[in-house]
Amino acid sequence: MNGRELLRSMKDAGSARGMRTVRSAWRRRRTDGRDLPARGAERARVPGPVTGAEPLAGGGIVRFARAGLRVWVAVGGGVFWGWDGAGPSPSYALAGEPPEPDPRAVLEPDTDGGWRVVSERVTVLVSRFGGVEVSTPGGVVLRRELPPRWWEPVDGDGPARWAQRSEVAADARFFGLGGRASGPRLRDGVYRLWNTDPKGSFGPGDDPLYLTMPVQLVVADAGTHLAFYDNSWDGRVTLGEGEEGAGSGHDRPGTSEVRMDGGPLRCWVLLGSPARVLRGWAALTGGPAVPPAWALGPQHARWGFGDAAEVRRIVAGYRERGLPLSALHLDIDHYDGHRVFTVDRRRFPDLPALAEELRSEGVRLVSVVDPAVKAEPGNDTYDSGAAAGVFVRDAHGEDVRGEVWPGECVYPDFTDPAVRVWWGGLYEERLARGFAGFWHDMNEPVSFAPFGDMTLPRSARHALDGRGGDHREAHNVYGLTMAMAGYEGLRRLRPEERPFLFSRSGWAGMQRYGGTWSGDVRTGWPGLRASLALVLGLGLCGVPYSGPDVGGFTGSPSPELFLRWFQLGAYLPLFRTHAAIDAGRREPWEFGDEVLGHARAALLERERLGPYFMTLAQLARLTGAPYVRPVWWGSPEDRALRDCEDAFLLGDALLVAPVLAAGVVRREVRLPRGRWYDTATGEAYEGPGRVLLDAPRSRIPVLARAGAVVPVRGEGPAGIELEVWPPAPGRTGGGVVVRDPGEGWARSEVERYTSRWEGGGVVVERVTEDGTAPPGLPVRVRG
Ligand code: NOJ
Repeated sequence: MNGRELLRSMKDAGSARGMRTVRSAWRRRRTDGRDLPARGAERARVPGPVTGAEPLAGGGIVRFARAGLRVWVAVGGGVFWGWDGAGPSPSYALAGEPPEPDPRAVLEPDTDGGWRVVSERVTVLVSRFGGVEVSTPGGVVLRRELPPRWWEPVDGDGPARWAQRSEVAADARFFGLGGRASGPRLRDGVYRLWNTDPKGSFGPGDDPLYLTMPVQLVVADAGTHLAFYDNSWDGRVTLGEGEEGAGSGHDRPGTSEVRMDGGPLRCWVLLGSPARVLRGWAALTGGPAVPPAWALGPQHARWGFGDAAEVRRIVAGYRERGLPLSALHLDIDHYDGHRVFTVDRRRFPDLPALAEELRSEGVRLVSVVDPAVKAEPGNDTYDSGAAAGVFVRDAHGEDVRGEVWPGECVYPDFTDPAVRVWWGGLYEERLARGFAGFWHDMNEPVSFAPFGDMTLPRSARHALDGRGGDHREAHNVYGLTMAMAGYEGLRRLRPEERPFLFSRSGWAGMQRYGGTWSGDVRTGWPGLRASLALVLGLGLCGVPYSGPDVGGFTGSPSPELFLRWFQLGAYLPLFRTHAAIDAGRREPWEFGDEVLGHARAALLERERLGPYFMTLAQLARLTGAPYVRPVWWGSPEDRALRDCEDAFLLGDALLVAPVLAAGVVRREVRLPRGRWYDTATGEAYEGPGRVLLDAPRSRIPVLARAGAVVPVRGEGPAGIELEVWPPAPGRTGGGVVVRDPGEGWARSEVERYTSRWEGGGVVVERVTEDGTAPPGLPVRVRG
């Protein structure tokens, strides 16, 4: 909440809310002052010299004078290392049991007194003083961890802080760390790991945001790797890009220093091509949930749809203007007094009927769901939660209270499995009202505060799935465990349907339950840029389904800015217009006829690409590859591409080059190698290199890879046709189709198609077990 919102809310509710907010912030400070002992004297520790080693499956334990390191290589080539007894479990990130150790990887002495594990895909070297080096089979070092350092309370009471410094190649680029508005390339700086509501809105300079993760994706000439420090505590990552030939001709390596306030020092490193790394990441933390087809279509939201009549008017507005719409989102104002799991019956007297009516027009209703429950006897959710003892408590057993939209609230402890079951059951009310999807908000979690951290006291107690702990450890997984609760609840309530949810906050592994969105991105050209940065960065952290508030959350975009945002959004997984209650409208017809016409074209193109989006969603589940990928995805060795932040690949086939600045009607596009067609003109261009392309207000440049076979909506019984872009002379191409499995759990087959030249024409065939067959789908050759 920013100053303006606070003022507004004080006006709304008299100054009572303002007073409560101040009181709540003081209470938080007092609680921590009382229950969280100040850090006393600390003693620094390093591992010291090596003293011995003990081989175990896939690696072993290397002992040092003052610490022990468990290191092993997993089947598939992932590396795990953990200090002081830290193993891979328990972990909120992992999808299940950690992968098996590779039985062929053995721990053996290294020549200089250290130890090493050699396997087919990776070599891990543990130095005499506790450094860990991860190298390719060819012997190129990808990541060098220096010996860690801990700071432990002298009196032995309380968590040990730690710092882990690492070096990567001088040419390496960093990506990831969750959703970062300044990305996708993470430049020199300090990035905090603490999920944070940036108070009202954010732009590229704001950090951290709602969804942080200790996940780095590092791309260098020598190879790509992902490092995941599996630890949910508050932390900071300091990144420094390297420089080749920096001082007297020597390279300065890139550096990363991770500092955590507590918790285990353990890390996974995955290496290989970007595709291989993301595949490994999905194997470790879970494949991304596949949204229902309608959630891949255009969606519209607003904080402040006043009543059912306004909702009907908006939906009719889309219909009458020939604008496709697949979902409409209701924000907190449809609640009764902002209370979660209620409805304002005055303004929405018959939600199930409204939902049914919209559904008959192909429009689903999505409900915002906030975690905070108004602490008020008589509020059913509060009463049932209080009876079951589900709310987060302080060290003295009192419910922790905070201030959110409904007033004074309590917070379910989603790190308790029983609480997750309770919460999951509450979605029954939403389903009965006709909602088809869920939008988790305010789950960093937020408690409004005019000063200090806008969240729960750090001393608040959490179950942490039986281990017990406090908010310092639970904070960053609050949104993730809420998603788990919602997803599992929906699976129980509607076993025959795939749940659809997306969540503002989250952590590593949240893709198992759903996606996310930008949160309150500030309206302006920098916000538009940040929108793309967020989607790209999150995809590289394994969360492929996301998108911004198209048009920005605040204020009123100019018609041009709205249009350019809309045109970008049309190619992002979550394509949703949304804005704050005091912001201007975001319906496409609010910006004049010209914008309306171009927005309609973008919407229709999105609809046409529906089968391609569905294919990408299912491939993401199967392979971990995000739908939206940086342009270096297939050629990470191309340094110029690594630094390209203003375009992206949509799957293998398309390259999208949005307009990110005012007045631009022509832009430079950096092409990966191979031939690319401008899909608007059919003109062919050869990569690698740069080309200047027209970007009139009617469209943004979208290029298709030569040879690509793209499933699009079309004639024919399956409603799909194959759009084919001719391979370059002497080349072949291909593509994949995974059809919509419907709303249930059926798995569609992965259909493979090839394209080639024959007798002056382009031939498309389906790859079958015993060769090839006619495609079985209508084919249209473009370009
Ligand atoms: C904050 C969310 O980020 C925003 O999208 C939403 O409209 C408001 N909360 C009100 O629920």
